[in-house]
Amino acid sequence: MADYNPFNPNSVVTPTLFAGRTQQVLHIVNKLSQVKRGMSSSFFLHGERGIGKTALAKLIISIAESGNKNLKDLNFLTSYYSAEKGQHFTSVLQASLNQLTDKLPSSSIKRLSERLGDIFKNGKFSL
Ligand SMILES: Nc1ncnc2c1ncn2[C@@H]1O[C@H](COP(=O)(O)OP(=O)(O)OP(=O)(O)O)[C@@H](O)[C@H]1O
Ligand SMILES: [Mg+2]
Repeated sequence: MADYNPFNPNSVVTPTLFAGRTQQVLHIVNKLSQVKRGMSSSFFLHGERGIGKTALAKLIISIAESGNKNLKDLNFLTSYYSAEKGQHFTSVLQASLNQLTDKLPSSSIKRLSERLGDIFKNGKFSL
């Protein structure tokens, strides 16, 4: 770990170096746990350039996938997608969904195919 750069914006900050944000993390984890209970949920991270939005988002991704019992046992599939300027919402949604399906076992793909019809073929969404 000697050459690990904690200020690399492309990676999650090393947990031991990740400072603050406890309240934000707990707030968002609570929102995500609503989803587990069948309710929809969304949140918006905003703040000054370089304040740590992406780092927080990536920390949340790792928590959401972790199935950590102390953090609501979320065990979610996640995707990270950067939308291009002018990109239509439909294509953002399609790309994000297909990142999720890439991580699904074939039994789940099969079940989705049976339920979703034309928008889901050969393990891929086309919207
Ligand atoms: N909680 C934190 N503890 C320690 N370092 C952090 C923390 N959050 C972010 N950093 C560091 O600060 C830098 C900027 O963070 P980040 O890229 O997440 O900011 P941002 O708000 O997404 O920036 P931009 O507005 O440019 O997208 C990164 O190099 C990251 O490693
Ligand atoms: Mg950012």
